[in-house]
Amino acid sequence: MREEVYNNIEAWFENYVAGFESEIEEIGTNIELKKNHSFRVSELITELSEEWELDEADLILARIAGLLHDLGRFEQLIKYGTFSDTEQINHIQLGISTLEENNLLSELSDEESKIVIDSIQNHNETLLPKSISPTSLPFVKLVRDADKIDILHIVANYYSNNKQGSNKRLEMELSDKHDISKKVFQSIINEKVVDYKDVMTLNDLKLQQMSLIFDLNSKKSFKIISEKTYLKQIFETMPKKDEVIDTYRQMKIFLENQL
Ligand SMILES: [Fe+2]
Repeated sequence: MREEVYNNIEAWFENYVAGFESEIEEIGTNIELKKNHSFRVSELITELSEEWELDEADLILARIAGLLHDLGRFEQLIKYGTFSDTEQINHIQLGISTLEENNLLSELSDEESKIVIDSIQNHNETLLPKSISPTSLPFVKLVRDADKIDILHIVANYYSNNKQGSNKRLEMELSDKHDISKKVFQSIINEKVVDYKDVMTLNDLKLQQMSLIFDLNSKKSFKIISEKTYLKQIFETMPKKDEVIDTYRQMKIFLENQL
């Protein structure tokens, strides 16, 4: 795998994203946000990879998977105006179809293509499926970590610096009721990533995003999240209810113990 292959895919990606325009300002903002997210995930993969003993070719492959992991988000946003995945509109399936229709992995071997597709397919499953092949596994884990770090970066920044409701799609169109769902609270107390299905309110969503720390695969990921104080930033935007204080404390201690 040569750097040139990455550069060709990156040039295609830039051009593809530039083709999406929206009259709705919030959609335009979110397209830009997802584009920058994709580039940052690819960069984070380089940062995390030192711990993973990848050779240069594997690192390029992991960066391709990182750059393309959310490819389906652009069509999802423009066509359906949402970040919400349903059975009919799923950003993972949209992404894989786009990739195939554009023959984007033509310079990759079959094995390399499978690694990229496995990484896209499994990047945001709450739990890592056991069926992933050993060859794909390190790549899937790397993409998942980089994605989680940058999700925390985006949302910590958004919640801290914007009025609630200013980006409804980023808030997943959730209600701003102060309630914390029981299942969300229980997952965190058990140190498990909150299942997105249990998220009912914006506060649940914030806790779900914070709970992503329970499924990280490298020490460096914990280090970055801790140094950037993402959890604290999100916590500071939440009502200081007992459930919020208890869950924050649990996550803070968990994170400190991983360093
Ligand atoms: Fe992502």
